[in-house]
Amino acid sequence: MTRGVFLVFEGIDVSGKSTQARRVAAARDALFTFEPGDTPFGRELRHWVLDAATPMAPATEALVMLSDRSHHVRRVIEPALSEGRSVVSDRYYASTLAYQGYGRGVDLELLRAATALAIGTVHPTLTVLLDVPLEVVNERRAHDAKDRFEKEDLAFHQRVREGYLELAQDPSWVVLDGSLSEVEVAREVDVAVAHLAW
Ligand code: TYD
Repeated sequence: MTRGVFLVFEGIDVSGKSTQARRVAAARDALFTFEPGDTPFGRELRHWVLDAATPMAPATEALVMLSDRSHHVRRVIEPALSEGRSVVSDRYYASTLAYQGYGRGVDLELLRAATALAIGTVHPTLTVLLDVPLEVVNERRAHDAKDRFEKEDLAFHQRVREGYLELAQDPSWVVLDGSLSEVEVAREVDVAVAHLAW
């Protein structure tokens, strides 16, 4: 049985990645999934890690994200891929490197080692980064920021963005301009994923 395609969308919170991930999954009859929180266990973790009322050390935050991922990849992603079903995920391991590593300053080498433990051999076929400049983050940001990350200042989002751009040097990534209109981004995404063996 041929394994499914594993496509991941990454980007800062206002990049429009969730919309694109859902759209591509529906168009290709792939399984749509997301992190953090797409399992019953993950939903509990998501509550604790995003709840702004319960401060958490950066390393703790990273380990919660990694626990969610470790469970998610074994219960949801890998079973689908090994049955030949394609999977589109809204965020995967690069989110932890970008947010907890570049954003919060957790040691990147330690995060990479912990990531290897969390994901085993399940690497994305392609990661699409929807990159948005800080001015766009400022414009699109909800003024009633709710979770721990939405409340962070622009300097934090800038570090996360730069981290993503560094990670995207890897040949298994493609960077698209997320500041374009939704229709234009959709067109670029479709071109970028057309060659995958859906
Ligand atoms: P998400 O549900 O994708 O929210 P949004 O639609 O706003 O992007 O993710 C919630 C937050 O969790 C988001 O601000 C990024 C953060 N996050 C991390 O910090 N590390 C991680 O490993 C993941 C998966 C998410």
